[in-house]
Parts: sequence; structure tokens; C-alpha cells
Amino acid sequence: MVGLKHAAGLCLALSLIAFVAGADAASLQPQEVRITDAELGSSLTGAPGDPVQGAKWFKSRKLGNCLACHGNKDLASEPFHGEIGPPLDGVADRYSEAELRAIVVNSKDVFGPETIMPGFYRVLEGQRVLKDFQGKPILTAEQVEDVIAYLNTLKE
Ligand code: HEC
Repeated sequence: MVGLKHAAGLCLALSLIAFVAGADAASLQPQEVRITDAELGSSLTGAPGDPVQGAKWFKSRKLGNCLACHGNKDLASEPFHGEIGPPLDGVADRYSEAELRAIVVNSKDVFGPETIMPGFYRVLEGQRVLKDFQGKPILTAEQVEDVIAYLNTLKE
């Protein structure tokens, strides 16, 4: 039994190392992000995102799942549009890129702690957090930048 426990511990240690090694060292880490005046000016990765990928994360039920709460006209053919959040049509006219990044990274810093919108690039801890997301942000820095690039295409 002791051997099994050790094996489990070793597995955990190995997967932690794999996780840390897999994290993009060049990107700003969630703990380093500082949002001021509801804005986050520079790209988390230092590079612009890809809007086509961004639309994918936006729709993905496993990742962004933005569509569960936000319905946009350009995704009208997708099933299960949510109406909990406002439609994001024209959102790029209402917000600057720096504001959009702040909203996606940590909506709580922009709308206040009461908002039901999750912050997608903050480290989640606590009992209510799904095991898979403990200690990790929901999206990677690259995925956040892709989503920002997609939101930036939503002009009216
Ligand atoms: C659980 C529901 C929920 C999810 C999931 C969610 N949002 Fe939101 N979002 C909201 C709500 C509600 C608001 C309105 C702010 C408020 O009142 O809290 C909002 C506001 C916004 C706004 C500002 C819109 C405006 O016109 O003012 C943007 C941009 C936004 N969300 C983007 C996203 C993106 C991108 C994702 C996915 C990565 C996402 N949201 C996921 C609920 C959600």
C-alpha cells in the first residue's frame, strides 16, 4: 500500500513539473497581471492574437464557453446562446482593446466582485473551483489574446 501511495505521489509530482514546464514562460503569468483603471494595455504574450482561433475558444464549451452567457449575431447559427450577459455585437466600438483585455482577464476588476462573469486569466483556488482548474487560469495567455482579437472584430 505504501508503494502505491508513493507511486501516486510521484505521478502528482511529475504532472506538476509537466504543467510548470508546459506553461509559456515568456507570457505574463496570472499572478503578475495588474489591471489599473479597468485597462490592461499590453498583450499577455507580447504578440497579437488570432481572431479565428479566438472565435473557437469563445464557442468552446470546455474553454471560454462565452457563448453560454453571450449571444452574438455572427454566431447566431450556434446552438445554446446565453442571455445572461449582454450580446457582444459592436463591443469593439464600446471598449478599447485594453478594456476588453481587462474584462476577459479579470471581469471582477472591471464590473466588481458581484459579477457572475468568470475572470479567465486569474488563478482560481478554493472549494468551489473544479479540480481541473485548481491553481490554473481557465484560458492560457495565448487563448486570452485570441479571444481579444476576436472581440476586436465585433464592430457595428
Ligand atoms: C456566466 C456567464 C458569463 C460568461 C461565461 C461570460 N460572461 Fe461576459 N459578461 C457576463 C455578464 C453578466 C456581463 C455584464 C457585466 C455584469 O453586469 O456583470 C458580461 C460582460 C462582458 C463584456 C462587456 C460587454 C458590454 O457590452 O458591456 C464582455 C466584452 C464580455 N463579457 C466578454 C466575455 C468573454 C470573451 C467571455 C468568454 C471568455 C465571457 N464574457 C464569458 C457574463 C458572462
